[in-house]
Amino acid sequence: MKYNVLTLYPEIIEFYKSVGIIGRAVESEIIDINAVNIRDYSKDKHRRVDDEIYGGGAGMLMKADVVYDCVSDIKSKSNAPVIYFSPTGKRFDSEMAKEYAKLDEVILLCGHYEGIDQRAIDLVVDEEISIGDYVLTGGHIAAMVFIDTVSRYIGDVLGNNESLSDESFENNLLEYPQYTRPEEFMGLKVPEVLLSGHHKKIEEYKLEKAIEITKKNRPDLIE
Ligand code: ADE
Repeated sequence: MKYNVLTLYPEIIEFYKSVGIIGRAVESEIIDINAVNIRDYSKDKHRRVDDEIYGGGAGMLMKADVVYDCVSDIKSKSNAPVIYFSPTGKRFDSEMAKEYAKLDEVILLCGHYEGIDQRAIDLVVDEEISIGDYVLTGGHIAAMVFIDTVSRYIGDVLGNNESLSDESFENNLLEYPQYTRPEEFMGLKVPEVLLSGHHKKIEEYKLEKAIEITKKNRPDLIE
């Protein structure tokens, strides 16, 4: 999978692609992350990319021509879908991430300031995605969430597929609580059943705990 990330902060994406599990996946060429600076497409002598909003309203908007030229340049080298990150988009979830993980390439367009002139969105964007019901300072944060989540569903990125089947949101359940050594910490013991070696009982315990935490924190998932 190749992620093209079109943003005003390519340096954040450059750092993100160099560390941790994502860094390792880039290193071993399982994924590729191409950070593109939208500002490089400004024709303005001050490299401006934003302007005031027609009809009033606070803040600035990214200009249609700059965004259009940037996306068009990347699209001239690939026919990957263009995803725009915005709080007005469709809500991102693990099922959506699994579908995107099947693609070879995507173009991730990050809004900054108050967003992007609607005409550029109408002309170049295929899908608008929101990562949750809150407003971020910039789409680059949503793009990193997208890359992170999608990459976990690409074979070999995690190395250990076991960790995908039990995790939160599989079967509409949150993940059960987990423990590591020592067996006792600050007077708190690891639940006896987990030390028992009794496979069936352990599975029953994990399911019971998963249902319990889902009912408590996300009853909407059980409904
Ligand atoms: N940009 C600003 N807020 C966002 C959100 N919630 N999801 C995706 N992109 C955004």
